[in-house]
Amino acid sequence: MPEPSAPPIEIQFHGVELSRGGSKILRGIDLAVQTGETLVLVGRSGSGKSTVLKLVNRMLSPDRGRVVVRGKATADWDPIQLRRQIGYVVQEVGLFPHMTVQRNVDLVPRLLGWEPERIAARAAEVLALVGLDPAAHAQRYPHQLSGGQRQRVGVARAVAADPPLLLMDEPFGALDPVTRSEIHDEFRTIQRQLRKTIVLVTHDMAEAFLLATRIGVIEQGRLIAVDTPRAIAASTHPGVQALLRPLFEISATMPQGKAEG
Ligand SMILES: Nc1ncnc2c1ncn2[C@@H]1O[C@H](COP(=O)(O)OP(=O)(O)OP(=O)(O)O)[C@@H](O)[C@H]1O
Ligand SMILES: [Mg+2]
Repeated sequence: MPEPSAPPIEIQFHGVELSRGGSKILRGIDLAVQTGETLVLVGRSGSGKSTVLKLVNRMLSPDRGRVVVRGKATADWDPIQLRRQIGYVVQEVGLFPHMTVQRNVDLVPRLLGWEPERIAARAAEVLALVGLDPAAHAQRYPHQLSGGQRQRVGVARAVAADPPLLLMDEPFGALDPVTRSEIHDEFRTIQRQLRKTIVLVTHDMAEAFLLATRIGVIEQGRLIAVDTPRAIAASTHPGVQALLRPLFEISATMPQGKAEG
């Protein structure tokens, strides 16, 4: 549950423009993310999804327009204070190679000065949450894990300090379908119980439909649609339909589809 004082709108983009290396990357992005919702961003590679996340935690600043987080423009936030409220799962996982899994996961709680017992208990709790047995994995180094296991440690690290906001950049991309489906179940339980505000990027449209309260579609730096999964599925926008086509093609080739059809 959000605290009673929490603003109903957690993140707002007002006419955000961003160029890098001389080319426009984001064009006029307007967006509001409500407390407790999961906004899933989809779009082709290079469309600007990761850039949107980096504007929220002020790793990037807009050339024009404003990004407002928890009622305050990111330009006015102390970046450290801002990032303490945000769990961030980076696209490349980004674990510290010289630190054990345990150290990676309890990094933010240690920075926040939690009691040692609370830190240890929390690390074990979040590792278990993402399906990693702490006894078997906590003392390993990242290179001693598979890619999917590393990715799960990245998710555990982002939620360890219990931040109200989560930015997740393709957090489940390296997982096999069975593990991914298990993590989806866990994720939905976390969503129901903790009501975190989440912006999640994925290339997997099925994942988007499963996890999103709303889906945002980015095309060449423009937000061409933001709506409920149901409305996105019914969209007639050619850019949205192009993203949906692979989903329909898969379902059309499913054996039961042929038997029944
Ligand atoms: N430092 C940079 N200098 C110039 N261009 C950049 C820089 N970083 C990113 N870009 C460009 O910005 C655009 C958006 O990048 P971004 O990482 O947001 O894409 P994305 O939608 O997350 O893609 P992907 O799905 O492949 O992760 C891309 O065209 C990329 O080449
Ligand atoms: Mg990206």
